[in-house]
Formats: sequence, C-alpha cells, structure tokens
Amino acid sequence: MKIRKVIFPVGGLGTRFYPITRAVPKEMLGILDKPLIHYAFEEALSAGIEQFIFVTRHGKNSIEDYFDYILTHSDDFSTDRCSFCYVRQSEPRGLGHAVLCAKHLVNDEPFAVISADDYISHDKSCIGEMIQNYDGSNMAAIMNVSKKDVSKYGIMDVEKETDKVVIAKSVDEKPSVENAKSTNAIVGRYILTHEIFDVLKDLKPGVKNEIQLTDALLQMIPTHGLTGFKFEGERFDCGSKEGLLSAVLHVSMKDKKLAGIVKNFCGSLEP
Ligand code: G1P
Repeated sequence: MKIRKVIFPVGGLGTRFYPITRAVPKEMLGILDKPLIHYAFEEALSAGIEQFIFVTRHGKNSIEDYFDYILTHSDDFSTDRCSFCYVRQSEPRGLGHAVLCAKHLVNDEPFAVISADDYISHDKSCIGEMIQNYDGSNMAAIMNVSKKDVSKYGIMDVEKETDKVVIAKSVDEKPSVENAKSTNAIVGRYILTHEIFDVLKDLKPGVKNEIQLTDALLQMIPTHGLTGFKFEGERFDCGSKEGLLSAVLHVSMKDKKLAGIVKNFCGSLEP
C-alpha cells in the first residue's frame, strides 16, 4: 500500500536538553553536520513519501528555515514530488495531540509518523520497511528493551508473534516495571489509519496529563488491530544526552578520518 504522507511531531520542549533547547529546537541538534530532523526526512523520502507535515510551535522556526535551504540547495530530490506543510501546536499536549493537529492535512488515507529524536541507523529506511509490510492495521515499530526501562515507553502485550511482527493484545503507555506485560517497546515510527483522528479527538489526557497516542492505539485494537514491527538497525534515543552522544560516535565511526580521531582520543585515555 502506498503511504504518501508523514507527520513529524516537532512541537516538544526538549527539556532534557535545557538550556540549549530554550533557543534551539531539539530536532535541530546535530549528528555531526546534519540535524536530527534531516535524518528523519531522508528516511521518509527514501520510503517514497511525498508530503512532509511538521507539527511545530513557537521557537521552532529554524526547522522551516532549514528546509527552505535544503529544498533550494539539494540535487537529491525533486521539489515537484515533495510538498512541505507546517501546522502549529499551540501548547505541548502530547504525541496524540500533535498528530491530531495535522488531521486536516491528512484527510482519509493511512499515514506515517516519525519522531526525529529516535534516530535509527540502518542501510534501509525503517519506515520504508514498515510500509512494505503494512497490513492495514495501526502499526508501530518495536524493540526489546530491558525490564528496568519499560516505564520510558509504550509497551505492547503479545497476542501472536512471528519473525517480523507482533500482533498486540494490548498496549500500555509507560507502565511501571511491576505492571509491564512485556518488554516490547514502541519507538517513534508509526503507520496509522485515518480513523485514529476520531479517537484522538475525544481522548482524555493520560500519562503526564497528555493526550497519548498509545491510548488511541489501545482503544482501536478491537476494530483496527495493532501490529508491532520488529525493525532492523540500531536505534538511538537522541532526546537524551547519552543517546545523542552515542549516535554521534556511531556515525563518526563510519567515517575513516573521524573514526581515527575517536580511536586516538580513546587511546589517550588509557593508563
Ligand atoms: C513517546 C510515546 C511512547 C514511545 C516513545 C518512543 O514517548 O508516547 O509510547 O514508546 O515515544 O520514543 P515520549 O518519549 O515522547 O515520552
């Protein structure tokens, strides 16, 4: 099935990166020479997506400026094929609310969602792989996490499992270690059916008093199903300092010159 549109929710505050994110959007933090949002954009572009919808907010204009520049200075893609839309989220009310803000731009077709701070390193596009395996249900990328970390994620309970996918019985946003039914954690890649907008519209705030996408996915399991896609590649939580540093080192190690600098630096630390 062709997926033409992607939503990038870029309206979050990035509190884990204060003070820099008081003035710089977290999606504009760099893995070397490219901001996180550029990697997310490339992943969507190589998956054949044509319309890029940014749910943005006050203080995030540099994202628009950046793509104005990229659009006019890149030979990598044709501007005829791509369109860019920006919609405002007036206050950060959660991922579900951010997705709902783009309802009028999506209309009635399935669409992708990519969180730029979840950087996935792989030679194939993660969202592209999901599109190839898309079955018409709501779908989220999942990875196995250690039990102690379950309370950072949406966690899927398993009804059925194959090599590539999990069919979810339920899903729970940021459960406690004691309450988590599995260690299958959602990371920031989704393909959603447009009916999710009707559910999000009436959803009450959940964890952290925010409109949680996970709560909408749970409510839709009986009617639309929920599939967890076991993606390949390495994921970095670039919403955290540890994750961003690891991503910078990971990408640096793929470049001969930079890898040499990292190795020399590490060598100089040895006693
Ligand atoms: C969001 C989702 C959560 C998911 C996570 C992945 O949480 O609500 O279900 O597991 O992204 O990064 P956040 O990290 O924005 O609190």
